[in-house]
Amino acid sequence: GKVAVLMGGRSAEREVSLMSGQGVLAALRRRGVDAHPFDPAERDLCELKRAGFARAFIALHGRWGEDGTVQGLLELLGIPYTGSGVQACAVAIDKTLTKRLWQAEGLPTPAWRRVASVAEAEAALEALGAPMIVKPAREGSTIGLTKVMARGQCADAYRLAARHDPEVLCEQFIAGPEVTCAVLGHGAAAQALPLIRIVAPGGQYDYHAKYFSDATRYLVPSGLPPEQEAAIQALVLRAYRALGCRGWARADVMIDEASGQPYLLELNTAPGMTSHSLVPMAAQAAGLDYDTLCLRLLADAAL
Ligand code: DAL
Ligand code: MG
Repeated sequence: GKVAVLMGGRSAEREVSLMSGQGVLAALRRRGVDAHPFDPAERDLCELKRAGFARAFIALHGRWGEDGTVQGLLELLGIPYTGSGVQACAVAIDKTLTKRLWQAEGLPTPAWRRVASVAEAEAALEALGAPMIVKPAREGSTIGLTKVMARGQCADAYRLAARHDPEVLCEQFIAGPEVTCAVLGHGAAAQALPLIRIVAPGGQYDYHAKYFSDATRYLVPSGLPPEQEAAIQALVLRAYRALGCRGWARADVMIDEASGQPYLLELNTAPGMTSHSLVPMAAQAAGLDYDTLCLRLLADAAL
């Protein structure tokens, strides 16, 4: 039957989502799937049923797409969709809820505070120490994020983050290698892909470095000792299951360079599928090319 590739949407990651969606759409078509683009910002999602779509591939990022809202609508329409269900998406979109849940499971994540004012951000800096990351709780692709080195930066950092989301998160900065780990599958069959180590020039893995820079380097294999890589994969699988994820996801992890301790930053339930994105890169390293990855994700579509 017809497949809708949901892309675009109205979050700040719209541009990224359009790139992800174009990639997925082309891949599915190359493999003979009757796939069509569908942008919820331009067309009413309720039309999916009337228009005869049998399944949906969710290539939306951020709110109103990766946060359980679209998943809930698809549940009501009875249209199977890729990736996690309503509850896992709704928790994972909010970095503070995610951290609370992981902490309850004993999983490591950097020390943090949720703040509602500049004064609270300044108090968080006192408590957490510099450098400190200030970011919107429900945003992606490093949008609205500042690395604060001194108290004087707290006001601008708070206001920038709050422009994107009234829920603002302050988090202790972990100095060390950044790695990301993709997971495919469901429940006991879920499988972690090889880690990718990210080396961004100047340590700035920001929006530009993520999608438009050719200077950012991605190491697969990661170069970490095999036992450390395996331990991080096991940790990410626990993080994935703790959230009740399904289909696929990608967790971002910082490794403290002094202790070697990995810290979970966040988990994306609809990770990027652009030409610069990391799940396709990890899948490739595991012998799964982009087109096959898209087909597999679609085959796992569920209600
Ligand atoms: N939020 C972006 C799309 C990612 O994690 O890949
Ligand atoms: Mg993200």
